[in-house]
Amino acid sequence: MDLQPLKDRFGATTAEPINLGCSDATVVRLERGTEVLYYKAGPGTTAEADRLGWLGTTDIPCPRILDRGEEWMLTSVLAGRDASQPWSASERPAVLAAVADGIRQLHALTECPFDSPYPGSRGAVTHGDYTAPNVFVDPATLRFNGLLDVSRLGLGDPYIDFALMHRSLAGPLNPQYGGQSAARDFVVLAGGNPDDPLLTHFTNLGVSGNY
Ligand SMILES: Nc1ncnc2c1ncn2[C@@H]1O[C@H](COP(=O)(O)OP(=O)(O)O)[C@@H](O)[C@H]1O
Ligand SMILES: [Mg+2]
Repeated sequence: MDLQPLKDRFGATTAEPINLGCSDATVVRLERGTEVLYYKAGPGTTAEADRLGWLGTTDIPCPRILDRGEEWMLTSVLAGRDASQPWSASERPAVLAAVADGIRQLHALTECPFDSPYPGSRGAVTHGDYTAPNVFVDPATLRFNGLLDVSRLGLGDPYIDFALMHRSLAGPLNPQYGGQSAARDFVVLAGGNPDDPLLTHFTNLGVSGNY
């Protein structure tokens, strides 16, 4: 990918493609003076920008939209490190608790102009792609610091997010947390029941997302 046109367009001095997510989106980290910006483009980015704009009106920390257009957006950097990054063994329990705290905060919201694309109850604002790389933690305090990748955010069933993060933590990409038992701990900390059939229901529905 030729990144020069993107640098010229936004006056950036550096451009680094990000391959962390596994969606079809193009994500590029840009530096402009002392600013760090993220460019995202691809199917679903218009829907994401709409949802991110709304989320920015709540108390949940998230990137700010600086500019947007047809299926692209430019956002401010979300501070912190995402939960899929390596954390030390002594930090991991607090990071797991922060990941649970983040989704509790989002689920506590009950009004939202968007509907989840997934079937089920409609009692909470759900993220719809709640996986480790989409949750940010403050490395100094080890507290929840915000979330991103919100193209599937909307009123839905909290077990959508429990199932996504359970799979993310139990799967092969995030072994640092301890696999299946950490995934169950997350569900409990997040306010759910790891034996609720809804967990496997949503996992089997094939909820898509980045692990
Ligand atoms: N505004 C931002 N601030 C900090 N990191 C970002 C930002 N936007 C994207 N990223 C980084 O890029 C990764 C991929 O972006 P994301 O929006 O999750 O795309 P995808 O849909 O491909 O998963 C994120 O996990 C995060 O590490
Ligand atoms: Mg992502």
